[in-house]
Amino acid sequence: MDKIRIQGGRPLSGTIKVSGSKNSALPILAATLLTHEPCTIHRVPDLSDTHYMLQILVHLGAQVERASGVVTVAAEKIASVAPYDVVRRMRASVCVLGPLLGRCKEATVSLPGGCVIGDRPIDLHLRGFEALGAAVRVEGGNIKVFAPKLRGAIINLAGKFGPTVLGTDNVMMAAVLAEGTTVIENAAQEPEVVDLATFLNKMGAKIEGAGTRRLIIEGVPELHGAAHEIIPDRIETGTFLVAGAICGKGITVARAEPEHVQSVTAALATCGFRINPERDSISVYPNGVPKPVELGTAPYPGFPTDMQAQMCALLATTEGTSMITENIFPQRYMHVAELKRMGARMQLDGATAVIDGVDRLLGAPVMASDLRASAALVLAGLKADGVTEVSRVYHIDRGYENLDEKLRELGAQIERVKE
Ligand code: EPZ
Repeated sequence: MDKIRIQGGRPLSGTIKVSGSKNSALPILAATLLTHEPCTIHRVPDLSDTHYMLQILVHLGAQVERASGVVTVAAEKIASVAPYDVVRRMRASVCVLGPLLGRCKEATVSLPGGCVIGDRPIDLHLRGFEALGAAVRVEGGNIKVFAPKLRGAIINLAGKFGPTVLGTDNVMMAAVLAEGTTVIENAAQEPEVVDLATFLNKMGAKIEGAGTRRLIIEGVPELHGAAHEIIPDRIETGTFLVAGAICGKGITVARAEPEHVQSVTAALATCGFRINPERDSISVYPNGVPKPVELGTAPYPGFPTDMQAQMCALLATTEGTSMITENIFPQRYMHVAELKRMGARMQLDGATAVIDGVDRLLGAPVMASDLRASAALVLAGLKADGVTEVSRVYHIDRGYENLDEKLRELGAQIERVKE
């Protein structure tokens, strides 16, 4: 197993290119199950999570070819059962339920297990399928959904913590082949949901309102093959912008979509950093002594929960008291204990992290627990005095393509070593 070793204190500068979005690629790859014709997806990031999704598609009977970011899927004949040992490694596997129900009118997928970032039920997904006329049964650790026919319906997907991203994706993918019109109220507005709707419409679906709280889906008898390029990864973009803020002399994140990270750049600007957005790139520059901030995570276009840990790493050495409230996954603070091992001063008050900035962090061996927490530990290691060793980096490989290589391009002293 690998770990990442970082010699901290090196200023970052230069330009890196972001990869395609993980959270867009996963549901779009699942959507290829909706047609028996071939689909070609460009800019698919080389991550363990996208590999897992392709293994699920192959297990279901699809032909898959992959070459340097281009994936072709031909789901001519498919099965409708995705068992535990295939889906247990990735929660997002749940998003094959909608396409299988839409196309095969039945699906059996293993229930996702526990998650370190918090409670992650799928009741809203199932509520949507039931509204479309499907019978839903949970037995033997599996979800079984089936319907002789799906009918359009009005579905409210509002949950306790707001809309659901994969729930909106799943119900949308089932509804595109339903008879009649479906209206999804309180739909998620994330750019990844819009990217999926764009791809489905290229396949012949009739979806309106993507990016708003209300989706209108007019069912069609069948879909055809299509080609699509995945949007830039806005969380990877945000992660590098925070890296540039933590110890940069000025870095540029290229092949990005500035609009998708406005809440992140607004937070960095509030801290005092100078932000320069261009057509498809964003630069961040130091601009005097950074200031503390107060912010809360929220559904898009609010501040993303997937950037909360990285901001904790930045605010750990920002003079003054900052506060971050996690409103989507209230327990998502596995990184706090590890940052405290590096000398950070942070207290949790319910779902709020109260951060008193310290002059400096000290390198230490730390343990990654989930994808974004591990990115935060790497960012803290870039800032810390001495050497930081982040173990369990397989978490990073789930969602960041060549993170250490890209940071080296910016001047970081970082390497991957065997445990
Ligand atoms: C997506 O997860 C992302 N994953 C997550 O990114 C991201 O943190 C999350 O959206 C929120 O932005 C992918 O796109 C693959 P939700 P998802 O359903 O769709 C509650 C990363 O780091 N809820 O929008 O699973 C839920 O518990 C990952 O890349 C219900 O109560 O998240 C949470 O509190 C981590 N019932 C809130 O809604 C449901 O049926 C939002 O979850 C579904 C969700």
